[in-house]
Amino acid sequence: MPSNVIVGLQWGDEGKGKITDLLSKNSDYVIRYQGGNNSGHSIHINKKHLILHLIPSGVVYPYIKCIIGPGVVIDPKYLLIEIKKIESIGINTSKVFLAKRAHITMPYHRLLDKYKEESLGDQSIGTTHCGIGPTYEDKIARVGIRVLDFLNLKIFHKKLKDNLDYKNQIITKIYKREPLSFESIYEEYIEYAKSLLPRIIDSVHEIHDAFQKEKKILFEGAQAMLLDINYGTYPYVTPSSTSTGGVCIGSGIPPIFLKNFIGIAKAYCTRVGYGPFPTEIKSHISDMIRQKGNEYGATTKRPRRCGWLDLLSLKYSCMINGINYLIITKLDVLSELKFIKVCIGYKSNGKEIQYFPANIVEEDIEIIYVDFPGWKKDISHIKEYEDLPKNCKKYITFIENFLNLEILLISIGSERNQNIIKNKSSFFKIFS
Ligand code: IMO
Ligand code: MG
Repeated sequence: MPSNVIVGLQWGDEGKGKITDLLSKNSDYVIRYQGGNNSGHSIHINKKHLILHLIPSGVVYPYIKCIIGPGVVIDPKYLLIEIKKIESIGINTSKVFLAKRAHITMPYHRLLDKYKEESLGDQSIGTTHCGIGPTYEDKIARVGIRVLDFLNLKIFHKKLKDNLDYKNQIITKIYKREPLSFESIYEEYIEYAKSLLPRIIDSVHEIHDAFQKEKKILFEGAQAMLLDINYGTYPYVTPSSTSTGGVCIGSGIPPIFLKNFIGIAKAYCTRVGYGPFPTEIKSHISDMIRQKGNEYGATTKRPRRCGWLDLLSLKYSCMINGINYLIITKLDVLSELKFIKVCIGYKSNGKEIQYFPANIVEEDIEIIYVDFPGWKKDISHIKEYEDLPKNCKKYITFIENFLNLEILLISIGSERNQNIIKNKSSFFKIFS
């Protein structure tokens, strides 16, 4: 049975957690395929707030198998904290599994992430300091420690020794800091290995078997298109393939297994961390949006930068991801505004640019906006699309027409049931 993919189309925090939770109800599997605990996926159920960093957002349903796939980098310390935290609120995690091929984040990765960012000064990326970059660096350098190394502690011991000898040279000689102790890391990690052992699986075979048995599988993206290592606003990106292409790479399946590519975009834009943000708002409106939308990092608690919806970059994201259905989130956040701007193009040196530019970091960009009157009405309890204010529908129709895409669902609040299913026949065809 061809499966569904959920990806973020902006700079992250589009509401992938809420939407995955909502759409996974009838799934047998929810699979994360890239990123690490740099993600913060929020779910609100009956006023309870849950933030997931590594565990797939299907975990709330006890019958769903949740796999942290081979393309993910796993910090076992924070995974175990996350497991404990969600178990403490009564959620069963016995169906959470780790792929043998996933790479492990070690203490030196976290430190190197932090030291490098500090050394870059005003050139820093604004990473989450979770060690994601250094873990992927080791993976590509072919020296990484994988989950399967937890199954053979002799190999783990050797790999840790080799890696730490090298990393300690960087830590002491380049960053002039104290070296890390092999013994304490080894002791700490063999405890993690013991705790995680029952969850380690060969995910490739598990997932292929599931496809054979026609199970319903949902792939949950982390971060988002404009943070993608290849197609994002490089170098202000995360080091993984956040696009739908990353699903195959990060979970070991062929593209033909995938069917519905569901893109999530906020009704405006946010960005946390540094890097280009063409439609960033520099007035009090930014604070209004941040306040109403609770735009603070779920992982780092940093205030998010806020800006107008950027349809040029959204078109680019939809194109690269092959999006066939769009979900718009946080439309309710705009309800208090007198007017709303939407970016429909960029200009550089007075000339209109047709496409989202590869060198956006260096480009001096001017934005072409279209203004919309606000609707000045609380929409957070509306159930039917027809009942939305006229100006609100105008805004939605404009987005659909510009992108030539059908909007499946509009989220109008953080609670699980605060949604308007815009296209019911498509929605129930995909998710029942
Ligand atoms: P979710 O899944 C928003 C950003 C960081 C930084 C850049 C690189 O919740 O949407 P990294 O630690 O990944 O090396 O940092 O990427 N970033 C995110 N921004 N949402 C996320 O995840 C993010 N994960 C990383 O702020 O700018
Ligand atoms: Mg987030």
